[in-house]
Formats: sequence, structure tokens, C-alpha cells
Amino acid sequence: MDLNGVSAVVSGGASGLGEATVRALAAEGVKVVVADLNEDRGKSIADEVGGVFVRTDVTDEGQVHAAVRAAVDTGRPLRVIVNSAGIGWASRTVNRDGTPHDLGQFETVIRVNLIGTFNLMRIGAAAIAETEPVDEDGARGVVINTASIAGIEGQTGQVAYSASKGGIIGMTLPAARDLAAIGVRVNTICPGIIDTPIYGRGEAAEAFKAKLSAPVPFPKRMGRASEFAHLVKSLIENDYMNGETIRFDGGIRFQPK
Ligand SMILES: NC(=O)c1ccc[n+]([C@@H]2O[C@H](COP(=O)([O-])OP(=O)(O)OC[C@H]3O[C@@H](n4cnc5c(N)ncnc54)[C@H](O)[C@@H]3O)[C@@H](O)[C@H]2O)c1
Repeated sequence: MDLNGVSAVVSGGASGLGEATVRALAAEGVKVVVADLNEDRGKSIADEVGGVFVRTDVTDEGQVHAAVRAAVDTGRPLRVIVNSAGIGWASRTVNRDGTPHDLGQFETVIRVNLIGTFNLMRIGAAAIAETEPVDEDGARGVVINTASIAGIEGQTGQVAYSASKGGIIGMTLPAARDLAAIGVRVNTICPGIIDTPIYGRGEAAEAFKAKLSAPVPFPKRMGRASEFAHLVKSLIENDYMNGETIRFDGGIRFQPK
């Protein structure tokens, strides 16, 4: 899929992996809609790259429709959806003090990470279906979802987050099969430990990140958001990548704790 001259929607585009993706796509000539809750960051990034900011809660149908409509309204064919909005949460199934995991918190994580991803994928793909195919295969567009290796080997205290990311992995192949009829590919990336604001800032955050990334075999460091964006771009550009879930983790395998 050729990126130059198309439009895209990137959820979570105001920070971290989404922001790096917005910048990488814009550098290829894509008109990007930054769909995020964070208005200040979202607007300034969109302005910087000649994109459009739409304040979007990915769990809200109307707001996701508006973000997708903004991409269509750019006049460029909508060909790319990147789901990068997400939240973390740490709590055990039964906490150390004997209390069960808060049910509302579990629902919130599933709602943002899993249902939010599905929401933008379905509404975005329906809009991509309205465009003309770009080649003799009938290709119209690509969806890239962001899960996590925690969706494969969730650590202690990650039950909600892992369930949400495992759900994204689980829907990748059936969604690719569903969307084949309209020429849309679907791939999911499972990042390991990538340096973004999701881990917070300051001394404690730096110590936590160092501990998390110490077991990475090679390169012996956290991943960079720009490296994630590079993979997103490769997956979009390579027309034969479809229905796949890809680890992006420097070879790390999470231990129980
Ligand atoms: N950084 C990592 O190491 C890592 C590892 C595995 C998976 N991930 C996943 O990658 C994605 C991006 O993470 P990141 O590290 O860039 O985090 P981040 O916190 O830097 O960025 C996440 C963005 O999502 C936005 N967001 C949150 N809830 C939203 C909602 N309901 N609607 C719209 N936007 C919303 C936030 O405002 C923020 O801008 C997440 O899904 C995360 O779970 C990250």
C-alpha cells in the first residue's frame, strides 16, 4: 500500500507509540487524524505535521465516527487505521489483602483497550470500504492494532490488561477474514517494553523501566517508539502481511513477576 496522498486515523496519536506513528506516516505524505483524549498534545502534534486533531474517546461510537469522518473529509482516500490508544492497570485477581479485583476497573481496561480498538477498526474499515481499490488485488486499506506481549504471557497483577490485549490478538485473524471481502488487511503488533510516557516520569519510573527491560536479550535496552512506527509503516507497505500478530520485543519473554 502506497502511503503518499492517503489519509489515516491514529488513535492514541498524542503520545508514545501513537505519536511516533503519526510522525512517521506524515513524513511519508499521509494526512493524519490524531484521535486522542489529550487535546493539548494532540493539537500541537497534528499542527506540527499538517494533520488534523479530533478529540476522541475510542469507546464512544459518535466520537469515533467523527474522527473517521474527519479523515474522509480531508479529500484524501482513507486507507490506514492505527489503534494505539490504551491504558494500563495493575491489580491481582485476588489482592494481597484478600479483596477481589475491582470489577469496574477490569471493565474499564477491557472497554478502552479491547472494545475501543474494535470500535475504531469496525468504523474505520467501513469507511475504507467506500474507497476505490488501489490495485488489481482489490486492496483498499490496512488496520494495525496494538496489543502487547502481556496478552500472550501476562505477568502477576496484569490480569485485566492481559485480558484486553489477548482479546485484540484473538480478534486479529477473524477480523482479517471478515475484511478480506472489502480488501482490508489487519495485523496486530505486540510490543515488549518500549520507552513511552505510559510508564510515567521521574526517578521511580526510570527504576521501574530499568527493572522491566533488564532481561531483554538484545539489544539490551528498551525499544524506541520510532522503531515501533517503523514496523507499522513496514506492515502497511507490505501487501502480503495479513492476519498476523507480531512480537516486537527484542526477544524478551516475560517471567511470572
Ligand atoms: N510502551 C510500552 O512498553 C507498551 C508495551 C506494550 C503495549 N503497549 C500499548 O501500546 C499502546 C500505546 O502505548 P504508549 O506506550 O504509547 O502509551 P501512552 O500512554 O504514551 O499513550 C497512550 C495514548 O492513548 C490515549 N488514550 C487513552 N485512553 C484513550 C481513549 N479512551 N480514547 C482515546 N485515546 C486514549 C492517551 O491519551 C495517550 O495519548 C497502548 O495500547 C499500550 O497498551 C505499550
